[in-house]
Amino acid sequence: MTSRTVHPITSASATIRVPGDKSISHRAAIFGSIATGVTTVEGFLASEDCLNTVRAMRHMGADIAHCGDRLEIRGAGLDGLRESASVVDVGNSGTGIRLLSGLVAGQPFTTTITGDASIRQRPMDRIVQPLSAMGAHISGASGGLHAPLTITGGELRGIAYDSPVASAQVKSATLLAGLYADGDTTVREPSLSRDHTERMLNALGAEVRHDGLSVTVTPRPELTGRPLRVPSDISSAAFFLVAGLLASDARISCVGVGVNPTRTGIVDALRAMGGDIEADAEQMWGAEPVADLRVATSVLRGAEFGGDAIVTMIDELPLLALAASQAQGRTTVRDAAELRVKETDRIEAIVSELRALGIVIEPRPDGFVVDGPQSVRGGSCESHGDHRIAMMCAVAGLIASEPTTINDVDCVNTSFPTFWELLEQL
Ligand code: S3P
Repeated sequence: MTSRTVHPITSASATIRVPGDKSISHRAAIFGSIATGVTTVEGFLASEDCLNTVRAMRHMGADIAHCGDRLEIRGAGLDGLRESASVVDVGNSGTGIRLLSGLVAGQPFTTTITGDASIRQRPMDRIVQPLSAMGAHISGASGGLHAPLTITGGELRGIAYDSPVASAQVKSATLLAGLYADGDTTVREPSLSRDHTERMLNALGAEVRHDGLSVTVTPRPELTGRPLRVPSDISSAAFFLVAGLLASDARISCVGVGVNPTRTGIVDALRAMGGDIEADAEQMWGAEPVADLRVATSVLRGAEFGGDAIVTMIDELPLLALAASQAQGRTTVRDAAELRVKETDRIEAIVSELRALGIVIEPRPDGFVVDGPQSVRGGSCESHGDHRIAMMCAVAGLIASEPTTINDVDCVNTSFPTFWELLEQL
């Protein structure tokens, strides 16, 4: 197990380009594979999670050449996939297993999908339910609750599905299956989750329409390959944005960051706390908005977060907890029970590791409460095998009074293999 030690910094000035967006990279690999013709992907995130999705698509017959941050996909077409000769292993990726399950639910063959120990504990009933209602035959461990999942697809019915959770993975799995159904498929969610699937499918020629919190896909579109450019991942940039706000005498720019409004909750939250964050050079890269984000050392104040905003910053809540510990007054996060079913129980992991570094924080069933500002002592902490917990601890280490050692950091490779190199720049 690899450990890393982070030393406190006294100032920071850096311009950083973080790697490509993980959500968009998964989708580019999957959707390019079921389009006809060539899809080139620039800025692809070559992390373990996304490379597992590429391997899965190759096993099902897509021709994908990968070099650095570039993919060239010769798509198999909507009906050109074939049964994988081996079990599909998504590693640590929730997006991988849930989107691929939706895809294979539409295929007239049988696929078994599994992943690592964390994936095999995460809830899969949330996709098994809509996909079964569409007519896919699915069996899974714990009575269908957990992976491994064995899915025999084909001959699907279009459905109108009211999802009990705001989850882009559930929405995307259902829409992907909907591409193969006999009629329209509609998903309604309680809050609007990230909409990369809708944007990319439309860019490739599908008909996906939003109406408030509902989204409808028309089956059997002609998907045509095209060049795609993946913005930098705002979820990765967020580690450096928060470092720039919290460190003394800091100015950090992250360039070419995806600023899709379903993902920018963390920027809104940090601004609401008084963070000095500017966006410029806004432009569209295909269907996705992109901007340069600049932050400078800021005095933060506590705030309350909950409701529809939570889904737009769900992956950044560990960082928000750290930022809150440096803010004046109380910060409360609620309506975030989904954190308990991420790569780990993130409410427990945030609380135990921030406490290990000297911060007082209280868990709630659906969030946490932090009073600030507090000093960060540093010391030794654990990743829990969760990339975002490891990187949160590393950022805490930058503002600690002693060095901070983070144990078991290999998980960082699932989403951000160049994280440590970029952190050195600070
Ligand atoms: C993702 C959706 C979110 C997010 C995950 C990526 C996606 O998960 O937390 O990191 O790419 O669709 P949920 O759909 O479970 O909310």
